[in-house]
Amino acid sequence: MTDKTDKSAPKSAIWGGRFETGPSQIMERINASVDFDRRLYAEDIAASVAHCAMLVAQGIISPADGQAIQGGLETIKGEIEAGQFTFKASLEDVHMNIEARLAELIGEAAGRLHTARSRNDQVATDFRLWVRGALDRMIAAIAQLQDALIGRAEEHAGTVMPGFTHLQPAQPVTFGHHLLAYVEMLGRDAGRAGDCRARLNESPLGAGALAGTSFPIDREMTARALGFDRPAGNSLDAVSDRDFAIEYLSTAALLAVHLSRLGDEIVLWSSRGFAFIRLPDALSTGSSMLPQKRNPDAAELVRAKSGRVIGALNTLLVVIKGLPLAYSKDMQEDKEPVFDAADSLDLCLAAMEGMVRGLAVDGDAMRAAAEQANSEALDLADWMVKNLDRPFRDAHHAAGRLVKLAEERGLRLAQLTLEDLRSVEPGMTGEALEILDLDRALSVRASFGGTAPDNVRAACGRARQRFLKTEE
Ligand code: ARG
Repeated sequence: MTDKTDKSAPKSAIWGGRFETGPSQIMERINASVDFDRRLYAEDIAASVAHCAMLVAQGIISPADGQAIQGGLETIKGEIEAGQFTFKASLEDVHMNIEARLAELIGEAAGRLHTARSRNDQVATDFRLWVRGALDRMIAAIAQLQDALIGRAEEHAGTVMPGFTHLQPAQPVTFGHHLLAYVEMLGRDAGRAGDCRARLNESPLGAGALAGTSFPIDREMTARALGFDRPAGNSLDAVSDRDFAIEYLSTAALLAVHLSRLGDEIVLWSSRGFAFIRLPDALSTGSSMLPQKRNPDAAELVRAKSGRVIGALNTLLVVIKGLPLAYSKDMQEDKEPVFDAADSLDLCLAAMEGMVRGLAVDGDAMRAAAEQANSEALDLADWMVKNLDRPFRDAHHAAGRLVKLAEERGLRLAQLTLEDLRSVEPGMTGEALEILDLDRALSVRASFGGTAPDNVRAACGRARQRFLKTEE
């Protein structure tokens, strides 16, 4: 690409005063952010309205100018929302596009809006407001997904399935118990989002370019108007801090990882090998070649999109890492990763909620897999410890021999007779045989946080109380 330096290119109406010529085409392209930062328009206008009202209240601009500015900003908001606003790359970013349009609409008064303000505190304010909104959306969507998971957990509080370690069947659990594990993870994610929101909620507005301003501004007033808890305490930090975006992305990355793990389990459970669940048609896809296929694409994409979100976190950490105080233009690269991560997560959370609400459970297949797993072996060993006073290691060994015996005969552990049990451990009684029952194995795991169906029902109630406070 060749760069054209057009001597007659227009100089920036906003900052062109000290320049002889306008920017080259390449300069314009590398500099422009309006293609993506136009998403900040509502926050930008809200922050300008707050700033303008404060300038009037402090006698820095006249009420008449203030009124003209507010009216113009409202008109612009309407134009943008009606799709009637032309964003121009030559005007760099959303801030200058809006300011230039304001000048067209109201003339000279528009030039007074930027009194005691810099684009540096402006963008920091807009972006904080945007990320705050994304956190609120995230928290609400997490609650929706938790609601879906708790509902299905209540329904399947007694549905037995194999619980796994190393992806090998280990002990029976209930499907409800398994789903509630994700409710816990999501609860921590929502907690992190809330913490991030609380730390984020300080207003950079009024920090100016980096050093504050000589105008008698009221930063408390603008902070309050924008729903911030307080003005940020240091002007250098206010304009150069992007912790809030990094913290948002790290919260987002961990949430995406949790969704990815659930997505992965849905892929496994819906596979032929497991056949534990069936996804609703609306959230499955077919194959263009193989007519019999039914693919869990949504779950796979939830799993994959975690890669984008993790990448976004990495991008922003690296962008910010070497920057001296205060603002550098590098910071303009903060927005795309955040927007992309937020879009990905909105979609993943919605898709996951749909899958959880819509998946059909094959309880018989789950039970058969749990039976096949001989997972009562531990209960048998525990029984020998409790009733025959055997050291656990010996009991473990005896139970292992019984599993081997059953396998040699092509049977499940539960299909062995009392004579079979006695051939390995003469002390065995009829009570030991009763141990070899899946539902019993579930119901005895009644320790707090354990998988016994009654426990799971109680845990569902507690989860509703803790996470979905509006209900019950
Ligand atoms: N578009 C810029 C950004 O997103 C706005 C701030 C520009 N400030 C400046 N001093 N050039 O970071």
